[in-house]
Amino acid sequence: MEFHKIARSGQIPEGVVRRFFAGEVEVALSRSDGEVHATSNYCSHLDCLLSSGKVTDEGLLCSCHGSVFDYASGEPLCPPATRPITVFPVREEDGHVYVGVDAELAEAAMRRRAVGARRLGDTAS
Ligand code: FES
Repeated sequence: MEFHKIARSGQIPEGVVRRFFAGEVEVALSRSDGEVHATSNYCSHLDCLLSSGKVTDEGLLCSCHGSVFDYASGEPLCPPATRPITVFPVREEDGHVYVGVDAELAEAAMRRRAVGARRLGDTAS
């Protein structure tokens, strides 16, 4: 697994979530209780950007429909999302944030709700 230096620690103050890139992979970095968390930037419900969400004590809140995702596991703690988001390993050293990405995590993080879109199309026809 390769660790990418993707942000300065100061770019992610407590309670903030922002979008960064680890190579080609879009990552939402957030800080809660002093700890930096890295997840995919796309909600597993309908692909809203989690970098537009909010940091809560429980997890990362998607601002579109209110699902909250556990920082450590990526599991949704409340509906409507039912599937986890991808979580990346994080190291914070010497004032920088490093995020670990391998091929499997990268593929999972870039997956979109293509199945949901097809289902909507089928219903309309
Ligand atoms: S898109 Fe995130 S909860 Fe609906």
